[in-house]
Amino acid sequence: MTMNIRPVQTGFVGEVTGIDICQPLSSADVAAIERGMDDYAVLSFPKQPLTDDQQVTFSANFGELEIPLAAQMAAPETRRFQKLELGDISNFAVGSTEVLRARDDKKRMYALANRLWHSDASFRAVGAGYTLLHSRINPSKGGNTEFADMRAAYDALDNATKALVDDMIVEHSIVYSREQIGFTVEGDSADLKPVKHRLVVTHPVTGRKSLYLSSHIGNIVGWLVPEARAFLRDLTEHATQRQFVYSHPWQVNDLVMWDNRTVMHRATRFDDLREKRDLRRTSIKGVGLAVDHVPVAQAAE
Ligand code: OGA
Ligand code: MN
Repeated sequence: MTMNIRPVQTGFVGEVTGIDICQPLSSADVAAIERGMDDYAVLSFPKQPLTDDQQVTFSANFGELEIPLAAQMAAPETRRFQKLELGDISNFAVGSTEVLRARDDKKRMYALANRLWHSDASFRAVGAGYTLLHSRINPSKGGNTEFADMRAAYDALDNATKALVDDMIVEHSIVYSREQIGFTVEGDSADLKPVKHRLVVTHPVTGRKSLYLSSHIGNIVGWLVPEARAFLRDLTEHATQRQFVYSHPWQVNDLVMWDNRTVMHRATRFDDLREKRDLRRTSIKGVGLAVDHVPVAQAAE
């Protein structure tokens, strides 16, 4: 079998065939996939019937897995999976794969913010590098995941805007993204405090710049909040124009992986009070993947 990557639509998404990712990979396979991630930014692997353990094993080829904040904050009895690295991206109520979350379920409301364009875990000092989603059950309509190419979005800025954003430092927090949909994240954990990142990051392999945008951003260092929010809204609108976007229609057993440092993503609507949707998520910490979004030191106050 020879691995092949075929560009899909917009060119920043590649469809990978000729490889069985349920089996252990050779280092050459891993290197080829990493090269594909640098070239494309989103790779889809159709028809890969991974078990949970196989998804974790495949993901671990690319670095250390992260434990998502939602899993970390959840009481053990409310978690669907005991393995904390495995994210539950379903609309199932606790302890059931038949009962759907109630309309006012807090987990449902927290997850509704996935419909805002974001980059995973950008509210952490080290955000996610790659995220991997594996599809198990899909609704009859809707529920695509959309991706926007932040390299193309940066390239398309005019020179004055590039100069304005090139050294910009912004503050990310999970509180800011949830606030946008009117949901208050409870608690006073250190994880809720804003972290600072550069808005423009440079990829060390390709040398391309991209916008490290996310709905988790709530302020720009040195700006007033209303100025910052109005500007970030304009920039996000620019960056998510349809020519930069790919919408993935899920088929069961698709695995899609993307680089959170070069693309934003969002969930799209489906009838989640009546239909099931079940995806499993793994994320790789954005360390050792050598992209310069090293957090700006907290001292840079
Ligand atoms: C995520 C996410 C999108 C989706 O799991 O991080 O943003 O379509 N999911 O469920
Ligand atoms: Mn996400």
